[in-house]
Parts: sequence; C-alpha cells; structure tokens
Amino acid sequence: MDYVPTKPLVIGHRGACGYRPEHTLESYRLAIRLGADYIEPDLVSTRDGVLVARHENDISRTTDVAAHPSFAGRRTTKLIDGAEVTGWFTEDFTLAELRTLRAIERLPGVRPQNTIFDGRFMIPTFQEVLDLASAEERRLGRPIGVYPETKLPSHFAALGLALEEPLIRTLYRNGFADRTDHILIQSFEASSLVTMSGMTDLRLVHLLETPPDDLTSISTYAHAIGPDKDLLRADPGMVARAHAAGLAVHVWTFRAENAFLPPSCRLGDSPTDRGDVICEYEYFLDLGVDGLFTDHPDTAVAAVNALRRHRTPVSVG
Ligand code: G3P
Ligand code: CA
Repeated sequence: MDYVPTKPLVIGHRGACGYRPEHTLESYRLAIRLGADYIEPDLVSTRDGVLVARHENDISRTTDVAAHPSFAGRRTTKLIDGAEVTGWFTEDFTLAELRTLRAIERLPGVRPQNTIFDGRFMIPTFQEVLDLASAEERRLGRPIGVYPETKLPSHFAALGLALEEPLIRTLYRNGFADRTDHILIQSFEASSLVTMSGMTDLRLVHLLETPPDDLTSISTYAHAIGPDKDLLRADPGMVARAHAAGLAVHVWTFRAENAFLPPSCRLGDSPTDRGDVICEYEYFLDLGVDGLFTDHPDTAVAAVNALRRHRTPVSVG
C-alpha cells in the first residue's frame, strides 16, 4: 500500500507517564486530556488469561507487590527473553489477585513528584482501557485512538496464554473491528504481528530496536515501523526508505527530562530537570516521522501544532 502523509500522531506512551504512574487509567485519562491522539497500553496476561496493562510481566518495579506478605512466596526467578529475571510475574497471579495490588512510580528518582500517586491506582484490564477511550471519545467529541502492544508474546504463548487471540477478540467485541483509523497494534516480535495479520485488517506496527533487514518484507504485514529514536539518529534516511516501502514511521520514546535528551536540547546540569524536549521533537518532525511516542503528550501536541506544513494557511494581515 502507498504511504500517505498525515499530521503526525501524538501517542501517549504508557498514558502520560511523565505525570502519573504508568499504565493506570489515570495516566491514560491525563494523556487524553493533554491532547494525545492515541493512548498506548502494553499488554501482558494474567494466570486466568485476562489481558492487563503492564510494560513487562515482572511487576516488581511498578506495583506494591513486595509489600504484600501473602504474595512473598510467589517471588521467583525466570528466564525472560534470554535473561534471568527475579520478581513477581503476572502469569502467576489471577486477575482478582492483581486487583489487590496498587501501582507505583517506575522512576521515583527522576520523577519524585509522581510518587504522591503511589498506592492509589489499580492495574487496569485491556477492557477497562477500551472503556475509558470510548467514554472520553463520547465526552470530548473527538476520536481517541488505542495503540496496544503485545509484550513477550512468545513467552506467553509457551505458557498457553497467547496474547493475540484475546487482543483481537476484545477489540472486536467492543466494536473496533472496522475502526482502522483508531486502532494500531504493535509488537517487537514479527511472529506476533504475522499471526494477527491473519486474524484482522486492523493496522499493525513493527517495533524496531535494531536496524530492519528488509522494509519491503515488513510492509507485507505492517502499516508502520516503530523505531527507537537512536536508530533514526544513526540512520535518518530510514524515514524516506520506509515511506517508499509504504510504511509510516512512529518513533519512540520522548521524555522531557534532561536525562533523556541529547546534549543540544538539555537545559542546565540537573538530569531530572525538564529540558527543551520541543527541540528534540523538531529534529524528528523535520525528518518526516508520522508519530511520536511520548511520556509528556502536552509537549508533543505543542510541537506538532506548531508545524507549518500541517496547518491550514491563514492570513496574518
Ligand atoms: O511501543 C513503543 C515503545 O513503547 C516501545 O518501548 O519498551 O516502552 O514498550 P517500550
Ligand atoms: Ca510500548
């Protein structure tokens, strides 16, 4: 399919996780209020096969599970993506058990202001994320996109908890089968995307941490690539090559604190102070990217709205 340029999308990464503990309804709700076009739930499975929003199956760093004596015996070590990980894992908990936990800030050293929300918000199900998007869409009168990611799909498939079928089933049950403009489904694993391409016409996005071998091959099942921003810095020509292959480009992940910005966009010496993230967006928007995953959606909305090429010309007198 041919690439068609559009106004770059603002994707609320894990919601608005620069301001709220990630992957909570409150984080997603704030992303929408700040103007994000899409909210981004990463999805993993519970022991009873329910999709919930977490960045990884190990919930040690993003919940208060360590403070629950009743779950002390569930702490274990597993091989995840070739690395030993010790913690508590979603696949060892039922949804009812996970509901007794509360979210905490992942980066308390960088975002101490967000720790005031520790212990207040639950882990949402994918269904609840869709319910929130639909309710906010009705309330605000604008489309709210949802951009789910299958996390560790091979790991979950090996446990008999494959993510793809419940993901597509949940979207269809909620009337999203035809909403090709408002659902984007992403994964780092090509096999997960290929599986879903046989289940749905919804648009798929191949995430990239390493340079792609063959963009034309990716275009046979994907609408877009989602490269790490460092990949594009090393190879800016990838944007034009992706477009030529019919693929949009959605780049990740933007964060406003100096610690995550290139030296030329930092303000002051403190790694936890906010820098000039607009400067970083402008670099990538000038490359022609089509979407920005950001922890601070308000800043990306400002950068995109300032782009002349996406604005209706107006007379200034
Ligand atoms: O999904 C895009 C971006 O979020 C990939 O990184 O690790 O935050 O899921 P991660
Ligand atoms: Ca993600």
